[in-house]
Amino acid sequence: MFGKRTDETRPAPGLPVTGQPPAAPAALSAPGAAIPDLPMPGSSFGGQQARAAGAAPPPQGSGAVSQQAPKKPEAGMGPRKSENYYDIKGTIFNALIDAIDLTQLGQLDRDAARDEIRDIVNEIITLKDVVMSIAEQEDLLEDICNDVLGYGPLEPLLARDDIADIMVNGANTTFIEVGGKMQKTGVRFRDNAQLLNICQRIVSQIGRRVDEASPICDARLMDGSRVNVIVPPLAIDGPTLTIRKFKKDRLKLPDLVKFGSITPEGATILEIIGRVRCNVLISGGTGSGKTTLLNCLTGYIDHDERVITCEDAAELQLQQPHVVRLETRPPNLEGEGEINMRDLVKNCLRMRPERIIVGEVRGPEAFDLLQAMNTGHDGSMGTLHANSPREGISRLESMITMGGFSLPSKTIKEMICGSIDVIVQASRLRDGSRRITHITEVVGMEGDVIITQDLFVYEIVGEDANGKIIGRHRSTGIARPHFWDRARYYNEERRLADALEKAESRNEMD
Ligand SMILES: Nc1ncnc2c1ncn2[C@@H]1O[C@H](COP(=O)(O)OP(=O)(O)O)[C@@H](O)[C@H]1O
Ligand SMILES: [Mg+2]
Repeated sequence: MFGKRTDETRPAPGLPVTGQPPAAPAALSAPGAAIPDLPMPGSSFGGQQARAAGAAPPPQGSGAVSQQAPKKPEAGMGPRKSENYYDIKGTIFNALIDAIDLTQLGQLDRDAARDEIRDIVNEIITLKDVVMSIAEQEDLLEDICNDVLGYGPLEPLLARDDIADIMVNGANTTFIEVGGKMQKTGVRFRDNAQLLNICQRIVSQIGRRVDEASPICDARLMDGSRVNVIVPPLAIDGPTLTIRKFKKDRLKLPDLVKFGSITPEGATILEIIGRVRCNVLISGGTGSGKTTLLNCLTGYIDHDERVITCEDAAELQLQQPHVVRLETRPPNLEGEGEINMRDLVKNCLRMRPERIIVGEVRGPEAFDLLQAMNTGHDGSMGTLHANSPREGISRLESMITMGGFSLPSKTIKEMICGSIDVIVQASRLRDGSRRITHITEVVGMEGDVIITQDLFVYEIVGEDANGKIIGRHRSTGIARPHFWDRARYYNEERRLADALEKAESRNEMD
């Protein structure tokens, strides 16, 4: 339906076919070679990137081109070329896509990839007897290169640093999240086929394909952004692409204080919790700021500690010198070769870690993480999906139960209780603001129940005229948290006492 076309548009015999790219240079024969050579494409449809970077040779007959080729519109939304142009381009594009192996193309640097595309496009034009001026041909080549090597209309969005998520729901609808708010953009794709081609290009970089046979795929852009693609027939209204943009500069605790996500005293306490090796669980919903918070906490780990991180897609940016980063691997097309989080965490334990940081605890690895926390790797941390600290605890319990460990419920609870020191809750409120709503300690068991105690909570007081939530962080007045001895051991008890005291007096001021 999308992408692959009818035979009529296939290149004539003699053209190179998928898997056997023409005149394969040495780089092509190195499977799994690092892709990052291919620079992050700039603004695709404008084609400015290639020119600005001087990456592309000047178009032949450039005089004619500069007169003829109008400034190409931003994001493919400006004045459109004739339908005829798009028809021809579509035909040539489809023939090209059938002829080349995108994965291997992705391993070339941009210039080499361009030359490769230029050769094939010229060949297709000759074979199909397409009548075009040289200028038009250059234009077309530019367009096609941007489609094949870049991310088309997505480029301007990818270039913006203020966007947290990009959500493409079929060719005509694209939303972004900026500052916690969802916005519809004017970005449109020519059609679902173009969108699918871009999806294809994204996932081809990790050696995958999306099509009817395997319609779901997770991938990652070169800049670290995480991508999910789901296509028809599962996505009813066209290929659907969700991009969680990689933040080059993750927010730090002082930023969170500035945004009012937490008070300065709360931040100091988090800092101490990070430093004195409390075992921490960060709980929150999707996009509530869990990873950001985890990253903040890791900022206070001492520089002489050996830290191992396990993530589904490396997002954390630890600044310490002694960090080993591990990443899970999804199964390949044949369904083999998967390395899941549990495999990583288990392996971690054989790597002499001092702390283990798990990006997201979702399944049976919960058991191994708790074990690690319990056996001398204190200061380990992980995030988990839950709406309150208590819910976090029960999620942890059910992950272990469902992981097939036949342990009595009470044993699991004792294990949780003996491992987790602090749960920090992140929330995205309905006005889009993100707050740290709880800093909660796990203090012990009473019978079969795990007892927790809040140190800090965020209380919603009301809503202003603009729908902004009014609330305040409140200290619960606990002067001696459970991790007091730890703080003392690390010589942080003065700072801790001060922060708690200040928090207390802030309550009275409010
Ligand atoms: N306290 C905060 N204030 C404002 N923006 C935040 C805050 N915490 C996180 N963000 C932003 O929200 C987005 C999602 O954060 P992330 O930590 O990845 O969420 P999660 O891991 O819970 O899915 C990111 O763009 C991040 O920069
Ligand atoms: Mg996350």
